[in-house]
Amino acid sequence: MKNLENLLPSMHEWMRRYMRSFYTDDAEVQQGILIKEIHTCYVTSIALRLARELKLDSHGRNLAETIGLFHDAGRFRQYQVYRTFNDAQSEDHADLSLKVLDEEMPYFHEIDEEDQNLIRIAIQNHNKKTIESLKDPRQILFAKLIRDADKLDIYRVLEPFLAQENADKMPNFIKGKQHPEISSDFVQNFCDGEQADFRLIRTNGDRKIVRLMWLYDINFSWTMKMIKRRGYIDKIVSALPMNQDAEKLQTGLERLMRHVESVIQKNVDTQNLVC
Ligand SMILES: [Fe+2]
Repeated sequence: MKNLENLLPSMHEWMRRYMRSFYTDDAEVQQGILIKEIHTCYVTSIALRLARELKLDSHGRNLAETIGLFHDAGRFRQYQVYRTFNDAQSEDHADLSLKVLDEEMPYFHEIDEEDQNLIRIAIQNHNKKTIESLKDPRQILFAKLIRDADKLDIYRVLEPFLAQENADKMPNFIKGKQHPEISSDFVQNFCDGEQADFRLIRTNGDRKIVRLMWLYDINFSWTMKMIKRRGYIDKIVSALPMNQDAEKLQTGLERLMRHVESVIQKNVDTQNLVC
């Protein structure tokens, strides 16, 4: 078994080559692969940054970096086999990430068993509606950390497509129906301050409001501050079709903004854990 810190340079190099092995002359496929390659780079660096903000020790920072690096390893095979990033139409990409690590990543089995388990649990839970019930505080911490890092970067990825006139330019693999309206069940979820089931997204409006509902699932005040500071919340809100169900949307927005401020004010993210 090797120390995670010693394995990290080789794991980065392997992942870089692995992602590039999917490059193709098909322009649409290439666009999808590049989006996921860039997303992987950003999420890895955000996970590490968040680990620093949480004052994790060097082992904790190495774990965060590894989880960020591999969280979406399954996306590349998913797109190659199914030509979609839609899990409902293909297979769960977190499961696929673990399969790729088990079957193709030569260094994964060199990682200490306890660390391997922590990495698996965080990756497995990164894309679920909620985190499974876990008892170990370290498992909970890293599952929360990757969910925050992933969401922060997905706000960046989707930002250019918020305006309805740009929705047409959205690549096929992320666009839904081009209606600007929000489905009525999603409006109700939003008004009630709940999460919606992202697998039920039917329109462009649904996609926007789901990104707002994600804010109820942000775990750390640092992440919420970054989301707010980068203007993602304001940009999504100003792109909402407010003429539809205006009263319910307004109620949902007021509730949401109170929640955002309360998470920011919490302001104490430091984890007293030895990782
Ligand atoms: Fe993912």
